[in-house]
Order: sequence, then C-alpha cells, then structure tokens
Amino acid sequence: PASDPSLVERARAAKEKLGERVFVLGHHYQRDEVIQFADVTGDSFKLAKDAAARPDAEYIVFCGVHFMAESADILTTDAQQVVLPDLAAGCSMADMAALSQVEAAWDALSAAGVAEHVVPVTYMNSSADIKAFCGRNGGVVCTSSNAETALRWAFDQKDDAKVLFLPDQHLGRNTAVLQLGYSLDECVVWNPHRPNGGLTQEQIDGARMILWQGHCSVHGRFSEDVLDELRAKDPDLKVIVHPECKHEVVTRADMVGSTEFIIKVIEDAEPGTHWAIGTELNLVKRLADSRPDLSISFLDRNVCYCSTMNRIDLPHLVWALESLVDGVVVNRIEVDDRTEAEAKVALDRMLALPG
Ligand code: 13P
Ligand code: SF4
Repeated sequence: PASDPSLVERARAAKEKLGERVFVLGHHYQRDEVIQFADVTGDSFKLAKDAAARPDAEYIVFCGVHFMAESADILTTDAQQVVLPDLAAGCSMADMAALSQVEAAWDALSAAGVAEHVVPVTYMNSSADIKAFCGRNGGVVCTSSNAETALRWAFDQKDDAKVLFLPDQHLGRNTAVLQLGYSLDECVVWNPHRPNGGLTQEQIDGARMILWQGHCSVHGRFSEDVLDELRAKDPDLKVIVHPECKHEVVTRADMVGSTEFIIKVIEDAEPGTHWAIGTELNLVKRLADSRPDLSISFLDRNVCYCSTMNRIDLPHLVWALESLVDGVVVNRIEVDDRTEAEAKVALDRMLALPG
C-alpha cells in the first residue's frame, strides 16, 4: 500500500544510492506519496525545460504522463534514458488526436484550398508524432503557460493565417477569444470522425481557429452550474481555473492560468480570502494544505483526480528506482530518431518564444 513506511524508506535508499545519476521530475498533479521524491516539480512547460537542464543525469524518472516523458526524451541527450514508472500513465486528451486523423484533416484542408494558410499548433499534451507533424509543417508546440505567445507567433507566420489547434479545443478557444480577441464564430471545431471535420466550405473559409475536437476528461467536468452555485453561497469567493476548462467556466472565473500560475496566485493570496479552484484534485488538496489560513474548495461536487496521472504511485516509483540501482532500465520511453528530430523542431520553436 502507498502509505507503507517501508516503501518510503526503499525509495529514499534507492535515490540515495543513485545520487546525481538520477533526476526525478514530478508534475503538479502527481500524488503526495510520489511528489515527495521529486527533485523538481512543475507544470508541463517548466518540466520540459528542467529535463533539458540536467544533461549530466543518466536517468530521468518522469512522474507524469506518457507525452511528458516523450518530450523529456526528445529534449535530453541520446545518452540519457527516460523512465515512466507505469506505462499505463497515458493521457486521454493526447489520445484524441491520432497522426492518421490529423494527416487526413490536413489533406481535407488542402482540398478545401486553405492548407497554405494553415499553421498547426499543438498543445504539449499530444503524442510525439503529432509534435513531429507540427515540426515538419511549420508549426509549434505550446503549453498552457505560453499558449497566447505561441498563437501570436503562429498568426504571424503566414498571410491570412489560420491555426489548426491540436488536440484541446478548450485551451485553443479560450486563448484565441480571451487573449487574442477573436470571436467565438471565428473558432470552428474539427470533428475527426466526420468528412471535412463536419464543416462547410464557408465555415472553413471564415475560420481563424480550427479547433481539434479534443478535451481533458478531468477539466471538462467543471461546470458553470456548480460555479454559479458556489458564488451564490459565498459572494466573496474568487474562482481560479485552468484553461483546459470549458469556455463557459473560464469566462465566469476571476482568473485563468496554468498549474504553475494557479500555485503562484494561491501562494500570494491575502490571508482569509476564499477560493474555488478548477484543476486536478491532488494539486488542489496540496494547495489547501499549504494555506490553512485560506478557505479553499474544489470546483466540483465530485472527487476528480486524473486517473492516469494517479497510475504513478509509490510502489511503481520504488520498482523503477530499485531496478535502476540493479542496472536495469524498466519502462524506458524512447522516441524514434526521425520523429524526435521533427518534434524537436516544433519544441525548439516553442522554447525560443519570447517570455
Ligand atoms: P499544465 O501542466 O500545462 O498546467 O497542464 C495541465 C495538464 O493537464 C497536464 O496534463
Ligand atoms: Fe491528460 Fe487531462 Fe490528465 Fe492532463 S489532467 S494528463 S490533460 S487527462
């Protein structure tokens, strides 16, 4: 069991034996039992940069989900090996955009006569082959910390540019409307299961943002009804949400931003203030524990962890670390050379963005 003190001791001992040879990264949505062993914690943008900043570490143990471990493999040296303690830690959003579907959409946009205006932008939460697609088609990767800058960059790349935004429609819509000032009508949704994405030629021609029909199963649960109800009960309540939430939720919130932003806001909050937070529950609970002087509630009536983030637990971490002590690399995440080279183009474009 996770709370087993002998597992805590074994993780500590294995980390000590490995010393500087291992670097453990922990995403903010990881369980407490795992996060205590992370050398660094962060949102996906910070972790991508942190992974690249430790070329001396032989092993990168990524406590997060598959697409993050892939990005770490792409951004680290060939000699470094990236380990994901449980291979079942995927991401349902990333799985909503398969390369074959995106290539079919690209062909359809080409047939519709607009492909030469389209710049693909993919959220970090996508597979390496989708990032590679963006790399070879003049596009870029973004995270929830830099989506605005990445979109501005993309719109500057071509005359009459349109952005194909993958795979999270909500981050794409929220950023385009609230930060870049596009109208909701200029954002259309591409349904990969319908011919031409289910769009008419007129809709494609009029769009500035073509949003892939993907979403996060965790953030998609937050609703405007619960938000309104909480506000009605507590007029002093401040609501802060992640941009993967639906537009109706984000527009009702007081603040919106990546996990790193949410953490900063709560750290700096005035004592005694009241907050409802719309992001993953492991993080919300940790924030509530860190600021007992605030009233912090979760923006949903139900418990809502990211089930795949939660796959990484202490038994899996101990197994991965002890295997490394024994010289065995388990659950290595290795992106093939061609995909890596093309994906790196899109990731490097992101890392070169200002700010
Ligand atoms: P950030 O880490 O960019 O805040 O994204 C949240 C998320 O859903 C990660 O899977
Ligand atoms: Fe994917 Fe959402 Fe879980 Fe993040 S929180 S890993 S986007 S399912």
